[in-house]
Amino acid sequence: MKLFDVYPLIPVTPVKAEGAKLWDDQGQEYLDLYGGHAVISVGHSHPHYVKRVQDQLNQIGFYSNSVQIPIQQSYAQKLGELSGYPDYSLFLCNSGAEANENAIKLASFATVKSGFIAFSGGFHGRTSAAVALTDNSKIIAPCNAREDFQILPWGDLQAVELRVKEGNIAGIIIEGIQGVGGIQVPSPEFLTGLANIAKDFDVKLILDEVQSGFGRTGKFFAHQWVKDIKPDIISMAKGMGNGFPIGGILISPAFEASYGLLGTTFGGNHLACAAGMGVLEVIEQENLIQNSADLGAKVMEELKRIPGIIDVRGHGLMIGIDLDRDAGPVRSELVKKYHIFTGSAASKNTIRLLPPLNIEWNQLNSFIIALKEILATSPILK
Ligand SMILES: Cc1ncc(COP(=O)(O)O)c(C=O)c1O
Repeated sequence: MKLFDVYPLIPVTPVKAEGAKLWDDQGQEYLDLYGGHAVISVGHSHPHYVKRVQDQLNQIGFYSNSVQIPIQQSYAQKLGELSGYPDYSLFLCNSGAEANENAIKLASFATVKSGFIAFSGGFHGRTSAAVALTDNSKIIAPCNAREDFQILPWGDLQAVELRVKEGNIAGIIIEGIQGVGGIQVPSPEFLTGLANIAKDFDVKLILDEVQSGFGRTGKFFAHQWVKDIKPDIISMAKGMGNGFPIGGILISPAFEASYGLLGTTFGGNHLACAAGMGVLEVIEQENLIQNSADLGAKVMEELKRIPGIIDVRGHGLMIGIDLDRDAGPVRSELVKKYHIFTGSAASKNTIRLLPPLNIEWNQLNSFIIALKEILATSPILK
């Protein structure tokens, strides 16, 4: 059987990984500044994380949500403390799209409305409601398209208010920082304005922190860069499990739970919770949120000084770099000659950096040196 060929692949076969380093099947070392789409938060194969998962597997790996699973409760407790949302409830699932799907359903149940608003450049996943709120017509199948879902211009509060006033809006979904869209940071005025509209018109504000959460931006969640924003629902995945598939939503105390309202077979299983606990413990013990804030600010300062770079955006270790040329050939050169992985974004001149949160300065600096060299010698491809 062959694989369904949907992924353009980097011609590298990683077989081993540690921290921010990868090794391919030829023994070549690579620096990983992408973490497989922002997933590697506490570093590849972190010993504490590995032990947590191994120990759990030796005890019990899985049982469904039909029995008591105490590690779910202790995970919720720890997540509440570290995220600053101790009064919210946790529902666990397995991926970012699934987290958003549950967030959307919950907002719709609570408001008894069906319409949603999302924003240009946004990405919320590939499942039915999540993809219908994603700004990429190529991945929306005819069965996903919905007339009551609207993608409005990024930053346009007036358009949001007008649409909400038309009625039938259950929720507004926005990324803490847009990832696939090229690391676009919402202005404090935009986020605050959305929160106010949501409150005034009884619409649920969903913060999609799938990519920007878990310390990635130098705060636990990216929206915490803006004062006094309290979303109704926060969706999470990626960095949450450091590679183990786990996602979830944080739900404000205003929502009422009832048996069967949401559900999943795999979500919140023992192994997933152990992986999640391992991640939170490393983030806390190694002060990784601060490391992300400090190193991110430093690397952004350095990048801004490099000729050929026209814009640098982000917070912490979620960084978008706009070049004065096409980023594709530059990223290929980084892999081929300097053995450094970076990410792409929707616009073709953007490089996306999403390294492990425990990356070291000398590793980031080797990227700065490599990028400087490439930009000084490669032709400007507009
Ligand atoms: C902001 C955001 N939301 C949702 C998703 C979907 O997550 P998953 O691929 O785990 O379904 C992604 C994935 O890139 C994302 O970046």
